[in-house]
Amino acid sequence: MSTDLSNHPDYITLDITDLTPSGDAIGRHDGIVVFVPLVLPGERVEVEIIHRRKSFWRGRAIRWLSRREDRAEPPCAYFGSCGGCQLQHLKYETQLHMKTRFVREQLVHIGKFADPVVLDCVPAPATLGYRNRVQFSIGKDGKPGYHPPRQHGVMEIDKCAIAEPFINEQLTLLRSGRISYTGQQVDVRVPMNPVTVGGYQYYVSPESFFQVNTEQAANMVRHTLQQLELKQTDHALDLYCGVGLFTLPMADQAEYVVGIEFGESSTSDARRNLKTHIEDERARIITADVGKALARSDIASQSWQAVLLDPPRAGVNHETLRQLIALRAARLVYVSCDPATLARDAKVLCDAGYKMIQIQPFDMFAQTNHVESVVTFHLN
Ligand SMILES: C[S@@+](CC[C@H](N)C(=O)[O-])C[C@H]1O[C@@H](n2cnc3c(N)ncnc32)[C@H](O)[C@@H]1O
Repeated sequence: MSTDLSNHPDYITLDITDLTPSGDAIGRHDGIVVFVPLVLPGERVEVEIIHRRKSFWRGRAIRWLSRREDRAEPPCAYFGSCGGCQLQHLKYETQLHMKTRFVREQLVHIGKFADPVVLDCVPAPATLGYRNRVQFSIGKDGKPGYHPPRQHGVMEIDKCAIAEPFINEQLTLLRSGRISYTGQQVDVRVPMNPVTVGGYQYYVSPESFFQVNTEQAANMVRHTLQQLELKQTDHALDLYCGVGLFTLPMADQAEYVVGIEFGESSTSDARRNLKTHIEDERARIITADVGKALARSDIASQSWQAVLLDPPRAGVNHETLRQLIALRAARLVYVSCDPATLARDAKVLCDAGYKMIQIQPFDMFAQTNHVESVVTFHLN
């Protein structure tokens, strides 16, 4: 027999109206925003309030009064507790729609674009078992696991559903003590000596950045190169170039390419990757902060027809954007892993004379709330 909890102050009935970027559902109770994990917009639930602040509450769904039809059975037993994935309870198709919509919303709300051309999110080749790198936290008992959000301590796990099989094999060895480790975190990565993406081979040192979804990275590189429209007479820049993921195919299509990146391990890998791939002097890697390198006279005084930029989540700082705009390159392609900072930077670029042509989201991180976007700008 079920109990009517609706009059109990700690229990409320909530209609869920939206989902935050971090995957929590949102409803309103007497004007107060209530965040509830694992519920979906359109669902009606009984919620136990577990945390009250003046401006918002947090709750836990204890009974569903109505469920969405596109709800999915989460493929992983740790979903909802380890904090790594936010969307396993949604059918994959709906995850993609949400990501497309999210990118669009950020461009409208933050970037103030009236009608941005956001194409449908490109599905991931594999929705599970795709991550080539995972950082495990080590608990007090010495066991590896994940660090759940808003909680102390480490949650031990025996398998991560989105990690590549190699990572899970390593996790088993870590758990059994057959691989020893020290410190509070262990970084596990599939062997990358080399890793092949779109027919190019890359050596990636443990300290260097590399895209976490190798198969989808190949699709993203292909699309990005199409958008750059490089001609054999073009001079092009690859900003935040890492180990040269884009620099190699760019060097194949343009007359001259310069990659800029401040991580020494990444730039040393990038030089090695270029050397094994192209014989002449068509590409060069500079180890420097992008803003500082763009201000150098040998860069600022040259004419650049195309620029690719792939900054970290924080996006591009204002001074660096100013240096970039001063180059007046005809085509810019911006690869972003954070739609909010992308929207902010896109507005600056468009206020300075660029036109945003199209936005192509890619699902690089299936089951999570993250989304990658490739955005094409042309100088008006
Ligand atoms: C999102 S990663 C992209 C790397 C590469 N394009 C790829 O796809 O593999 C961003 C890279 O920018 C580098 N980076 C971050 N801030 C930088 C800065 N201010 N100047 C130069 N490089 C920077 C990081 O070290 C990292 O390698």
